[in-house]
Amino acid sequence: MRPTPDQPIGIFDSGIGGLTVAHAIRQRLPNESIIYFGDTAHLPYGDKSEAAIQAYSVRIADVLLKKGCKVIVIACNSASSAAYELLKEYARQIKIINVIDPMVHWVAEHHKQQRVGLIGTKRTVQSGVYHRKIEEVNQGIELHSLATPLLAPMIEEGFFDNTISHEIITRYLADPELEGIQALILACTHYPLIKEEISTYYRHQMPILDSATIVADALYHYLAAHFLLTRKTESQHQFLVSDYTESFEAATRIFFREQVHLEKYSLWN
Ligand code: DGL
Repeated sequence: MRPTPDQPIGIFDSGIGGLTVAHAIRQRLPNESIIYFGDTAHLPYGDKSEAAIQAYSVRIADVLLKKGCKVIVIACNSASSAAYELLKEYARQIKIINVIDPMVHWVAEHHKQQRVGLIGTKRTVQSGVYHRKIEEVNQGIELHSLATPLLAPMIEEGFFDNTISHEIITRYLADPELEGIQALILACTHYPLIKEEISTYYRHQMPILDSATIVADALYHYLAAHFLLTRKTESQHQFLVSDYTESFEAATRIFFREQVHLEKYSLWN
C-alpha cells in the first residue's frame, strides 16, 4: 500500500538522543504526528555488533510499520551505519531516511577541500561509512574520525555542562587525530546536547555540524516532493521505549525541550 499524507512519521534511536532529531522535525513540520521509538533496553548501540543492531532495527521498523508510519527516520548514526541498507530492503513500501546521507551532502556542499573532523560511537567510526560516502562525493574532503564511546552514555546519564563532561570532552578533542580540522561533524544524535561545550573548547571558532536540522530539512523536502505533507492542522505524538525508567522520562525535557510521557513497549513479545 502506498503511504498517504496523514500517516505519522516514525523515528527511532537507541535511546533518547534521537529526540534531538525529533525536536528539529517538530520545529520544521509542526503539523506532522510523530511516533518515536527509543530502544532504551539495548542502549548504547555504539558498542553493539552490526548483527545485533540490525536485529533491533528490523524489530523496531516492524512496530513503526504496524503503527502505519509513512516514513521512518533512523535518528541514530550507529543504526544508520549498521542497518540502513537492510531496512531499505525490509521496509520497501516506505522511505527510510538515515542521518548520514544528509550530513554528507551538507559537508560536500559547504566544506569542499577541507580537513573535517568527526566524532561518534565505535560502531559508526569503525563502519567507515562516512569515509566511504565522503569519498564518493569526491570534493577533496579529508576526513579524520575519532570514536568517543564515553560521550553517549555520559549524556544519557545527564552528565553535561559540568566538570566531568568538560574533562572528558577536552581529552577527546585534544586527540592528535583532530588536529588542524576546519569543521567538526557530530556523528551521534546525542551530541547536540554538548554542542555548546564542544564549541567553547574551540573558542567558538569552529563550525560544529549536527545533523538534527539538516535531517529535518531532508525529510521536509522528501515529503513535499512526494505530496506526503499532512493536511491536518494538529499533531499527535507518541513516545515508546523498550525499557522505562523515570530518569529517561525526565531527560526528555532536555532532549525534546519538553517533558513527554514515555510508554513502555516490549520489543520481543
Ligand atoms: N544516538 C546514537 C547515535 O547517533 C548513539 C547512542 C548509542 O551508542 O546508543 O549513534
